[in-house]
This record gives sequence, C-alpha cells and structure tokens, in this order.
Amino acid sequence: MSIENENDLIALRKIGKIVAQCLQYMGSKLEPGITTLELDQLGHAFLEKYGARSAPKLVYNFPGTTCISVNEEAAHGIPGTRILGAGDLVNIDVSAELDGYFADTGGSFIIPPESNLKRNLCLVAKRALDMALRSTRAGQPLNGIGRAIENEAARNNLTVIENLGSHGVGRALHENPEFIPGYYDPKDKRILKENQVITIEPFLSTGATEVFDAGDGWTLSTDKKFFTAQYEHTLVITKGKPLIMTLPA
Ligand code: CO
Ligand code: CO
Repeated sequence: MSIENENDLIALRKIGKIVAQCLQYMGSKLEPGITTLELDQLGHAFLEKYGARSAPKLVYNFPGTTCISVNEEAAHGIPGTRILGAGDLVNIDVSAELDGYFADTGGSFIIPPESNLKRNLCLVAKRALDMALRSTRAGQPLNGIGRAIENEAARNNLTVIENLGSHGVGRALHENPEFIPGYYDPKDKRILKENQVITIEPFLSTGATEVFDAGDGWTLSTDKKFFTAQYEHTLVITKGKPLIMTLPA
C-alpha cells in the first residue's frame, strides 16, 4: 500500500507495534522443553488480547497463528509437537491484521547455549537488515536492498536464500512490489516510491542459497547441514530514513 493520510500511518503503526510486541513476548518465552505449538498459543493469546488476527491464517489458512521455523527450517514452519531444546535456532514470524491493516515482523532467537556459528549468523542477518534500511529511500533503486543484504552476507562468508524475499504489505499481507530479492539483480529497474509500504527481511544462511518445501505443504527448509536466520521489519519509504512500523515501543 501507499500511505495516503495520517490515519493510514496511525493504523499501520498500531498493528506494527502489536506484532512487534508479540514477537518480543514469544521470544522471551523460549526455553528448553516448550513445544512450538505452546509457543504459538502464547502468541495467539497475545494477538487476541488486542483484537488482531493472524495474517497467515486469515489470508492463506495457515495451520497456526505464527510461523515458527527451527534450525534448518527457514520459513513458514507449522507450530506443532516439536520440542525446543538448548542450542536451537528458532525463527518466529508474526504478521497480523487489525482494522484492515497488515504488519509483518520476524526474528531469529537462539536458546542458550549459543554456538559461535549461530550467534554470528544472527548478528550478520540483523546487520544486513540495518544496512538494507540505510539504502532504502524514495527515488532510489529497489535493487539496492538486495545489494546491501548480499554485500553484508558475502563480507561474512554467509549466503543469501535467493527464493525468499521482502515484499509490499499494508492492506494485505503480500502486495506490490511482489518479490524483493535478497541479492542484487541488475535487471530489476523498479524504483522506491515515497509512502510505499514494504517489508525488508533478509534470509541469511550458513551455506544454503535456496529453500525447498519440507513436505508438509508449508515449511520451507534447507539441507539439514545449514542454518538460516531472518529479521524483518515493516516500513514506510520516505525521502529520508524509512519509518519503521514494527517497533515494540
Ligand atoms: Co514475516
Ligand atoms: Co514478510
């Protein structure tokens, strides 16, 4: 969507804050022994308290409230009986709707103890998001986002998952621009527009460059020998720094 008035901005900020706080809350509940379903139920209760509805459930009939992806799983993991353990890398993606506005956020967490490999992956993925945010302003090429993410990954000997990307958001969970790659595509001539609402969500991996359907129709995984981390914000493009909608405070 494109922000057209103050009300759009207020409404988007409102749902943005709810999903950001939900992500933070769920992250705080991670501990060995909890199942991904129990974690999801906490997220469900949190959203319900604010009258927000799970976007993947609403839009795609996803069998869960949030997407929880563990270790080699990169995205769209279905909450279930999987018991989380010490050292697990857990990605939680929270997207929800309130009053017709959608916000989307996500983050990766490590249940202690943290291995150097996983800690570094998370640090670099987070930094890739920061670097991409810096190159995101009205009038600039949209492929600057992928360029920033790819550069940060390469500098740290990590790879970009090429078939997962960022996207337009706001009045639906996924809207134009449809697929914003996490790598530099010189053929992509799209330009960022003022007031445009998009996500930025780098998916970085310890070696994988693509995800595949894990067999349940939802979960997207890499080869078991790799790990993937993702951090995601919903933001509004301006002539200066983007306005981040998915901040917890
Ligand atoms: Co998301
Ligand atoms: Co997204």
